Amino acid sequence: MHCEPIKSQFGARVTGLGPVIDLTEAEFLELRHAFELYSVLVLPDQPMDDNQQIAFSERFGPLERTISSNPAGGTAFARQSNIDIKTGQAIPPDDHRMMYQKANMLWHADSTFKATQSLCSILSAREVPEEGGATEFASTCSVYERLSKSEQAELGHLEVKHDIIYSRQIVGFEFTQKQREEMPPVRHPLVQTNPVTGRKSLLIGAHAKCIVGWPFEKGRALLDRLESMAIEPDNTFSHSWKTGDLIVWDNRSALHRATPYDTVKYRRLMQRTTVSLAVNS
Ligand code: SIN
Repeated sequence: MHCEPIKSQFGARVTGLGPVIDLTEAEFLELRHAFELYSVLVLPDQPMDDNQQIAFSERFGPLERTISSNPAGGTAFARQSNIDIKTGQAIPPDDHRMMYQKANMLWHADSTFKATQSLCSILSAREVPEEGGATEFASTCSVYERLSKSEQAELGHLEVKHDIIYSRQIVGFEFTQKQREEMPPVRHPLVQTNPVTGRKSLLIGAHAKCIVGWPFEKGRALLDRLESMAIEPDNTFSHSWKTGDLIVWDNRSALHRATPYDTVKYRRLMQRTTVSLAVNS
């Protein structure tokens, strides 16, 4: 296996493995270790179908079920697409289903609004637009490491309230009272520690609403400052997809966002599986 770092200690392009769906246990462990080191693994030329993606993803841990606002809600897949799941036709840009895609264009980590955090997401490119529709990644380890020792110590005591109602309202979603009750805000420690490497990162992004116990505006100022540090150009990279590419990213230490493309002219179908942190440590 060859790992070519993309940024210093963040992101690696992994080649020389053969099909990941056929990895031996030793090969998988080597890949898993690279995931802990680099947070985002880009694996070119790894075509797979849904069953193969599920089998590969389950090697990282148990899979989440997707929330109902995704067209594949209730399954192990989050479908990132402008293609109608039933008809195979392009969804009109003003259709409410495209709002889900807009929300993906905010910097976020997946599932931070759930009581059990996610370990990682695995995105498989099935159909890609000829231009646009890249995915961008930002390291939150690097943000933590650039803070002063005293601020690191202060942040180590903080909890963040994550709320999908908050993040989705930013792009215009409206929720019924029942939906609000189904997805209450949750709290997670702001500072996360990788149990393998000991590196610390920050759990921030679009679903991070406020700091528990702080005045709302003070918490927002901190969260906004940390996010703006994360997305500085030196701290991010962009992946332009080719059909068959696969990316695994760590939701504890990386933010990501989708970028726009012409949804009338092009088709984009990305299948995402999301691994829960439930029995991982
Ligand atoms: C996601 O936000 O999970 C997917 C990103 C993308 O569609 O590029």
